[in-house]
Amino acid sequence: MIAIFLAFYLYQKESGIRLAVASKSFQVDSNFKIEIQPIFKKHCTPCHFQGGRMYERLPFDVGQTIINNEAGILRRIKDENEKMLIRKYIAESKHPKQ
Ligand code: HEC
Repeated sequence: MIAIFLAFYLYQKESGIRLAVASKSFQVDSNFKIEIQPIFKKHCTPCHFQGGRMYERLPFDVGQTIINNEAGILRRIKDENEKMLIRKYIAESKHPKQ
């Protein structure tokens, strides 16, 4: 009998717990992570990445930073192939495929 009460008590307690799970919506942009971010990792570390002095103002692990600073970024990237990839990424973000 005691066991039943105990079980019921525990059940009540358990169901009374409400876990608020914050659902965060991630937009995983594989194109950015695979093609674009490595270019900046290679040339612009440590300043524009976590721990760097420009990370707060211009974080280069965020696609939007790249999109918003096209001119300044293309001026600093010398490799034509890398420039092309960055231009392509920015153009795609402005005209997303349907
Ligand atoms: C040694 C640290 C350091 C590295 C490495 C670095 N930056 Fe910066 N960057 C800064 C600092 C500091 C500023 C802010 C002062 C300024 O405007 O020059 C800045 C500002 C900028 C700006 C905004 C001002 C502008 O001219 O448009 C852009 C864009 C930028 N960096 C792009 C880059 C890119 C792209 C790379 C890699 C190719 C890079 N940075 C590498 C330190 C760095």
